[in-house]
Formats: sequence, C-alpha cells, structure tokens
Amino acid sequence: MSNLQRLDKVLANMGYGSRKDVKKMIKSGAVEIEDTVVLDPEMKIDPEVQSIKVNGKEVVYRKYIYLMLNKPQGVITATEDMNQHTVLDLINEEYLKFNPSPVGRLDKYTEGLLLLTNDGTLNHYLTSPKKEIDKEYYAEVYGRVTKSDVEAFREGIVLDDGYKTLPAELEILEESQVSKVLVKIKEGKFHQIKRMFQAVGKKVIYLKRLRIGNLKLDETLKPGEYRELTEDEVKALLNLL
Ligand code: URA
Repeated sequence: MSNLQRLDKVLANMGYGSRKDVKKMIKSGAVEIEDTVVLDPEMKIDPEVQSIKVNGKEVVYRKYIYLMLNKPQGVITATEDMNQHTVLDLINEEYLKFNPSPVGRLDKYTEGLLLLTNDGTLNHYLTSPKKEIDKEYYAEVYGRVTKSDVEAFREGIVLDDGYKTLPAELEILEESQVSKVLVKIKEGKFHQIKRMFQAVGKKVIYLKRLRIGNLKLDETLKPGEYRELTEDEVKALLNLL
C-alpha cells in the first residue's frame, strides 16, 4: 500500500523544524529525494519507500514510536484536559509530534508502567478485553490480606456493580496491617484492583503497574521519566499480534 505524503509534512513530523522552516529548507535545495534535489515542499512522496536526504545525510524515516513512561502520581491518563496535568504534559515535543496516545489507563494516583504509542493496531490489541493481556501490579493494601483473599481472587471477585471479574492471581509478599501484594489481572475495568480489594473489605493505598504482557517497567526510570522501547521490547510486543 502506498503512503504518499507531502514532503514538508514528513520532514516537519520527523523533527526538522516547523512547517515554515522546512519549506524554506526545501526551497534552498537542501533536500533530495532518490538523490535528486526537490524544491517543491508539496511534492508527494512515500517515506517508507523513497530515500530522503537532508544536507546530503540520509533521513531514517520512522512511522511509529513506542514510549515507556513510569507514570507518577497526580497526572491523569488522557491526551488533554482543561484543568489537570496529563501524561502527555511529561513528554517532550520531539515525541509529541508523532501523536502518541496512552495504551489503557492508570488512575490519577496509580504509578508505574504506561505505554504510549501512535501504533493504533498495537494499542487496540493490548487494550482489547478479548485478548486478555496479563497486567501485573504491586499494591499496598490497608488490612491483612490472607489466603482466603488469594482464593477469592482466583475464583473471580464480584464488584460493586455486580460484575464478576475473571480469575486473578494474588500473591502475598507481606501480610500485616498494611499488606504488600502482587496482583495479576487480565482485564481493565474502571478502578478494578481497588474495587476488588474493596469487595473483600480492604483498601488499596498504593498501586503501581509493573508489567503489561511481556513488557516490564524499567525500574531505573523514576516516576515521571520515560524512554523509548528498545528494539527487542518492540519486537516482543509486536510478536503478540
Ligand atoms: N486498578 C485500579 O484500581 N487502578 C488502576 O489504575 C489500575 C488498575
């Protein structure tokens, strides 16, 4: 399938400056397509097939970006909001140009792994309830979490709206007044983990996502920090499709 786009738009999207800067650059003769200087900023090209050079240097075209954010508390998982900071406010312009969207949602006060991408197919796949992608969380829970809770999670928990969750894995790391646990769920209902603990009479006081499918949070990222996925991480995710 051909993917014809305006030359100035392709270069602006790749970070060569604003549309105006890029037009000037093209008109100055700095840009070659298939080794021929092109002076028309509106020329239609297929960046996935045709070679582009700027000042004699080959441009490596990228269509998709994949970012791993360690979401901090206090920002909402949305692309825009009138009043609150969103996860996109943490992302640099160099990546925003690609129009990344969050994959799934973490609550305002949940931390941890949030994937952002402009790859709609992957986004759809990872968030589709039918695919039952495994997600792992670390939680601190007010109240003593016991083996009977582990059993109840394994059976599926009936939430406050009557919905019964799929079986979930609960592992107790520390059983005390504030218990520390790992939880694995295969869905993403609204406030799911908080509501699951609420249903067994406990309260989540800290929640952090550690993994989505085969993608693990890079623990060297501090809350608010992000990085691009490595090639291997991208391949492993795309292999799921
Ligand atoms: N479950 C929750 O309750 N909150 C989240 O952010 C994710 C899962």
